Amino acid sequence: MSIKVGVVGAGSVGSTLGGMALKGGNSVKYASRDPSSDKIKELLSSQAGTSADTTPNVVSWADVIILATPGAYEDEGITKLAESLGDVTGKVIIDVTNPLSAFPGLEVRWKQGTSGAEVLQAALPNAIIYKAFNTLGVENMSHGDGSGFAGWTGGQLSMMYAGGPEKNDQVATLIKAMGWIPAYVGPIRYARNLEAIAELWIHLGVPPAGTTSVFWGRNFVFEPIGASIPE
Ligand SMILES: NC(=O)c1ccc[n+]([C@@H]2O[C@H](COP(=O)([O-])OP(=O)(O)OC[C@H]3O[C@@H](n4cnc5c(N)ncnc54)[C@H](OP(=O)(O)O)[C@@H]3O)[C@@H](O)[C@H]2O)c1
Repeated sequence: MSIKVGVVGAGSVGSTLGGMALKGGNSVKYASRDPSSDKIKELLSSQAGTSADTTPNVVSWADVIILATPGAYEDEGITKLAESLGDVTGKVIIDVTNPLSAFPGLEVRWKQGTSGAEVLQAALPNAIIYKAFNTLGVENMSHGDGSGFAGWTGGQLSMMYAGGPEKNDQVATLIKAMGWIPAYVGPIRYARNLEAIAELWIHLGVPPAGTTSVFWGRNFVFEPIGASIPE
């Protein structure tokens, strides 16, 4: 069944995931603070069938919202972003953001003890929040077939997702359409672990570790073996 996918944050991650979500006959609309900007016009002309509108309008139209805005480290920033979405009752939100501290630390929210996704869920109790696609670099997001990872010959890869579980089937359908094997890891509590994986690949991919870590760099994917058998 086709899914109406709203993408909030039409930057490098949002536009990549929006383009991937078009597969499988889904519809995609981008939410932007300036839907008529040249940047948005260029994006829409490169992805036939997409359109753009204000955030509340896109959220109201969408079944599933991909949240790809800059990550907020503090609860306050996450709550403010949540408020900007408008009425999210019954909506599925796939949170791709990484709530990291500023460079050069780039640490996840160890001090707060919760994930950004849990703070988002608490701020939006009427929405169903999931965490996915935050565990790898944007340049690898469209390589669920395994082609982007040097030395990997195992074929299609798994995308871990946490949240729900009420909308697991819909999220799995979208992840499959986007070229990955959906690998459910548990309720939103486990977004803590997915955000920690993001901290790890970012640590391996940026200086100083990124300059010495020849093996990993940003070439990082976490493959749960049990999930690599397609249903
Ligand atoms: N880059 C990666 O490799 C990667 C990988 C995994 C996860 N992530 C996470 O994905 C998120 C996006 O990263 P990115 O690299 O795509 O960043 P980006 O290129 O800077 O894009 C962020 C987009 O969000 C928009 N935006 C900012 N505030 C907004 C708001 N309040 N409402 C709607 N749109 C808003 C910006 O639009 P304007 O400023 O033009 O309005 C911009 O287009 C971040 O949380 C990041 O941690 C990134």
